[in-house]
Amino acid sequence: MAEHQIENLDAQLLKRKLRVTESPCDVTAYVGQRELKAFCSNDYLGLANHPDLINALTEGAMRYGVGSGASHLISGHSIAHELLEKKLAECERKHIPNARALFFSTGYLANVNAITGLARLAESSDVSIYSAKLNHASIIDGVRLASAQTKATVTLFDHQNLHSLLESLKQDTHSLKLIVVDGVFSMDGDLAPVKQLLELAEQYDALLMVDDAHGFGVLGEQGHGILEKCDVHSERIIYMGTLGKAAGVSGAFLCASTPFIEWLIQKGRPYIYSTATPPAIAHTLLHSIELIEGDEGKRRRQQLNQLIQIWQTEMSFSKWLKVESPTAIQPVILGSNANALAAAKLLDEAGYWIPAIRPPTVPVGSSRLRITFSANHSENDVRELIKTLKRIEQTVEREHQA
Ligand SMILES: Cc1ncc(COP(=O)(O)O)c(C=O)c1O
Repeated sequence: MAEHQIENLDAQLLKRKLRVTESPCDVTAYVGQRELKAFCSNDYLGLANHPDLINALTEGAMRYGVGSGASHLISGHSIAHELLEKKLAECERKHIPNARALFFSTGYLANVNAITGLARLAESSDVSIYSAKLNHASIIDGVRLASAQTKATVTLFDHQNLHSLLESLKQDTHSLKLIVVDGVFSMDGDLAPVKQLLELAEQYDALLMVDDAHGFGVLGEQGHGILEKCDVHSERIIYMGTLGKAAGVSGAFLCASTPFIEWLIQKGRPYIYSTATPPAIAHTLLHSIELIEGDEGKRRRQQLNQLIQIWQTEMSFSKWLKVESPTAIQPVILGSNANALAAAKLLDEAGYWIPAIRPPTVPVGSSRLRITFSANHSENDVRELIKTLKRIEQTVEREHQA
């Protein structure tokens, strides 16, 4: 049965393949003993292989060992976790009054924890969740689980046009309303209109949860993410930031006003029933946040923005659809699975690692190359990639027409 299903996937050009990297995460990758230039990781600041963080992890392991041994509420919550959570709460305190943070092993778990936990703040059936149509799979799964557990009403909305959201909110009589949105859309790179969403949340007494997986570390003067960039401030905000992307390590955090976090500690099943991340990781992350906030973080964000600008000006020749994205995520939409796979293969032959992204990660008919930049790329790296894409575009178009 499984074999048959996999054959079906293959026939639709939807089968995915694992590739094994033989080198640390960086802009140069060794895959199958070939050297490739990688434009596909989420290591936007180029910290995943940073010597200071490698040292911090070694020091953390010497100090705390390699495992936490239990969930946070049993005996796994170390001083390293506590210090990290205090630091992360400080990062968002200007935007969330009375902020407290909670550290998770992944963003996926943090999202599921927040959405299912918050949905339990009201009586069953008295919850309404509004989720942006292009939200990440972990939000979709969190919403599905919350809806199964609490019979919450779920409404999808278009994040670039808030009219339908407004109309639904006007008529909503549920006692708990939760709006959930990606801060930076993971496959498109565009930003959610957080300020307008917050205005709606305030007007209609809703909570606003922002998943800033791709914003924390890169957006805002200090890298504190989309709340800093949009200069918003409210105790209605539930913030999720990941720490395995721009922060270069692993994990995620929720940050919200203290009573919400206290509630999620009491009722968030993924938090309660899962072993705490090794404290050495939390220790490493403390150093990563220092780098992000300091001069080096600023320099790295400047470099990233410079690369984004080069891309935006020099890719204007392309007929392939590009989304207006101000971030390090720059999709090139080719439409069919066949075209996206053909482009990824030609790029691979030219020495680049940029996989084709296909449904269900993106909507049917919008298969794409998801190109991402890192502060470790040089301007020349980006210019060379653009030249290669120009050549490849002509080949793919020719073959498509033939
Ligand atoms: C928008 C968004 N949210 C959440 C996650 C999950 O984060 P993690 O990889 O830490 O599980 C991702 C991962 O790619 C993401 O893109």
